[in-house]
Amino acid sequence: MILDRVKSGIDGLITTLRDPIDAEVFEAGKGSLKVVAQIAVGFDNIDVDACTKRGVVATNTPGVLDETTADFAWLLMMAVARRLGEGEQLARSGNWKGWNLDQLCGADVWGKTLGLVGFGRIGRAVARRALGFQMKVIYTDAVRVPEDVEKSLNAEFRDMNTLLAESDFISLHVPLLPETRGLFDSPKFYRMKPSAFLINTSRGPVVEESALVAALDARKIAGAALDVYEQEPFIHPGLKRPNVVLAPHLASASLETRTKMAVMAANNVVALFSGQMPPNMLNPEILRKS
Ligand code: DGY
Repeated sequence: MILDRVKSGIDGLITTLRDPIDAEVFEAGKGSLKVVAQIAVGFDNIDVDACTKRGVVATNTPGVLDETTADFAWLLMMAVARRLGEGEQLARSGNWKGWNLDQLCGADVWGKTLGLVGFGRIGRAVARRALGFQMKVIYTDAVRVPEDVEKSLNAEFRDMNTLLAESDFISLHVPLLPETRGLFDSPKFYRMKPSAFLINTSRGPVVEESALVAALDARKIAGAALDVYEQEPFIHPGLKRPNVVLAPHLASASLETRTKMAVMAANNVVALFSGQMPPNMLNPEILRKS
């Protein structure tokens, strides 16, 4: 469908993460396509280098979804720790026989150690929430953040292996890049505590799903809560188990935030065609050259 639209000679495309923007699209849009404006902060569906080579401006929507996404990561962590999915099913089933001392006992979140993999805007927004839960926050990232940022969030840097060994909850906040694809593989799961949970609101392919299923089967970790999957909308059948909370890629889905994202993408297009630099360009070098 996108290809037909592009072939019809349109100047700009507003895209979502479901639209692969690759050589075929650029070929179809040769001579007319000037901008690809993604409604998402992640843009792994867009070949930005190819955009740049063809002189097509690419934009995304950073910033506006950080808090909403952090809320959802938090929700997933609470849900898997406190077995909300199982509790909800029981409450709706008609089989609930009443309060019971050891019914669906989960794990506390407050006071535990939260390991953040990726400490950019969203990772830090999750860290802020952890302050209110008296959690110990540790993080790992390619670059250590300045000391004042660590202090304000009460966060301590760890290398990956130490973070894996110390965390009760591990939440992923990295973009999908060649170096983060398959980052969470079998050896990583085997380094986690058997009582630990994995939360993923970043991109599905950051986690090797077959390795996650194997780790869950072998009880190498206690559970997982996922919003994103390797091949959306397919969900590995081995993930459909009580100790895994599943959501259909909803982390930024509040009406307020999705509206802001859509408006931001439209504003990027409008800016370009008004002769201005779009505020959220992924390849600013194009306009700087011309
Ligand atoms: C993003 O913005 O990258 C999200 O995954 C979609 O909301």
